Amino acid sequence: MKTLIVCESHHHGNTMKVALRMADALSADLSSAADVADVSGYDLIGFGSGIYFNKHHEEILNLVKRLDLSGKRVFVFSTSGMGFRLLNRGLLKMLKEKGAVPVGSFACRGYDTFGPLKTIGGIARRHPNENDLKKAEAFARGLVDQS
Ligand SMILES: Cc1cc2nc3c(=O)[nH]c(=O)nc-3n(C[C@H](O)[C@H](O)[C@H](O)COP(=O)(O)O)c2cc1C
Repeated sequence: MKTLIVCESHHHGNTMKVALRMADALSADLSSAADVADVSGYDLIGFGSGIYFNKHHEEILNLVKRLDLSGKRVFVFSTSGMGFRLLNRGLLKMLKEKGAVPVGSFACRGYDTFGPLKTIGGIARRHPNENDLKKAEAFARGLVDQS
């Protein structure tokens, strides 16, 4: 199964840690959004980033808008201060509207020092931690078992 993982990770590199662990588990290619042009050669594509104002990074959203994803198996992941999986819903909705077939959604907490949080030393310090990364790896392996 040829897999591509697209990741944008700008605040603290939190989501990149998750993307690297998933890419390792899936022997996937890993790319930033700007480097993706044609995904026709991939059986499975993962889209992930930090959550910024309740959304995935703009580069991910813009990439999804411009790609042909009809019938493509896709998954979504994120890190955020809160770590809620429901924060992936907007991107999942966009992917469905593009005709893609979502097969999974993963989220965990990520160190967050945005705005006033900085003054208290941030939240979710040390996340993603090894436990989060183990969960990310298990999630990725589960995608292979599904195929
Ligand atoms: C501008 C900005 C907005 C953010 N908005 C949210 C948010 O709406 N909800 C949340 O839970 N975390 C929010 N965060 C925290 C990030 O999602 C979190 O730190 C994430 O792990 C960053 O991932 P990255 O290091 O891969 O960029 C925000 C952070 C920044 C810098």
